[in-house]
Amino acid sequence: MDNNENSEVILKEIELKYQAINQKTETHLEGLLWSKPITYWDYIHTDALLSLQIQRTTLPDEMVFIMYHQVNELIFKMILWEMNQISYSENIKTDFFTERLMRISRYFDMLTTSFGIMEDGMEVDQYMKFRNTLTPASGFQSAQYRFIEFSSTDLINLVDHRYRDSIDRNTPFEFAFEHLYWQAAGKEYHTGKKSFLLEEFERKYKGMFLKHMEEYNTINIWQKFKQLPDLDQKNSELIKAMRHYDHTVNITWVMQHLNVAIKYIDQSGKGNGEATGGSDWKKYMHPKYQRRIFFPELWSVDELAHWGE
Ligand code: HEM
Repeated sequence: MDNNENSEVILKEIELKYQAINQKTETHLEGLLWSKPITYWDYIHTDALLSLQIQRTTLPDEMVFIMYHQVNELIFKMILWEMNQISYSENIKTDFFTERLMRISRYFDMLTTSFGIMEDGMEVDQYMKFRNTLTPASGFQSAQYRFIEFSSTDLINLVDHRYRDSIDRNTPFEFAFEHLYWQAAGKEYHTGKKSFLLEEFERKYKGMFLKHMEEYNTINIWQKFKQLPDLDQKNSELIKAMRHYDHTVNITWVMQHLNVAIKYIDQSGKGNGEATGGSDWKKYMHPKYQRRIFFPELWSVDELAHWGE
């Protein structure tokens, strides 16, 4: 096909496209004539993106902290994008499932291996100063992180293990929400009173969380895996990808994060050892105690017994 013929085919297809929505092709072609050519900065919205880094202090390392968190939120968004494709794919094939899961795992691998930016990329003295302006905010309040959890597994695996016996698939979402494992970090242990950090988080996001919990009840990653034909559920590549994802999110990332918290909050010899979010963080953040496991059926009894050790 020469260039002219090719243009004619494309024009015909454009005409069909606009006929279908009752629009004049001619008008749209004229619009094309006058439209501005696209540039990199308009397409990526560079100016908007680079105007979002706003410090609360004059300390230069606060910029590292802000920007690395923003990078995390962008990657979380990329992860949710892939998860959504798995969840909403009908008659999903193992190749597609495995390939998308590996995309997600690569993103989490990147977040894990880049944690040195937090661990070694800020002066402790500066961190201990600017963190006071962040109290009582905490990464704990990352809503996308919670959406990732809800999209990954059945709610029972996110419920505090002390309450798992009282919850099954018929339990109201609201009740399950109140017993999620992370509620422990935002509640006074003895009185059960919620901290300001948790109250604010729920005030903004609880409605969205309940909706997301319900939406993903039957289409989270674990449910999609269980809906595969029996033979596909035994696919070794897919199982490897599922286990890799579970391990990266719930052990590797968590341990990197905990080590950073220990370095700044505990070992710096500065401050009072309290987290900005105010949790009993050393215990709460350890995978051994938290026991957040997205796909427990894919681990052996022994592996489960030594989770996070
Ligand atoms: C110097 C760096 C960091 C320190 C010292 C730190 C410390 C903490 C602490 C102590 C907690 C427990 C809750 C609290 O009382 O605040 C927490 C939770 C959390 N942080 Fe960080 N964090 C750091 C960086 C990050 C980064 C870069 C992210 C990425 C978004 C992040 C995301 C989270 C999340 C999602 C939680 C909740 C985890 C869970 O519920 O298991 N943190 N962080």
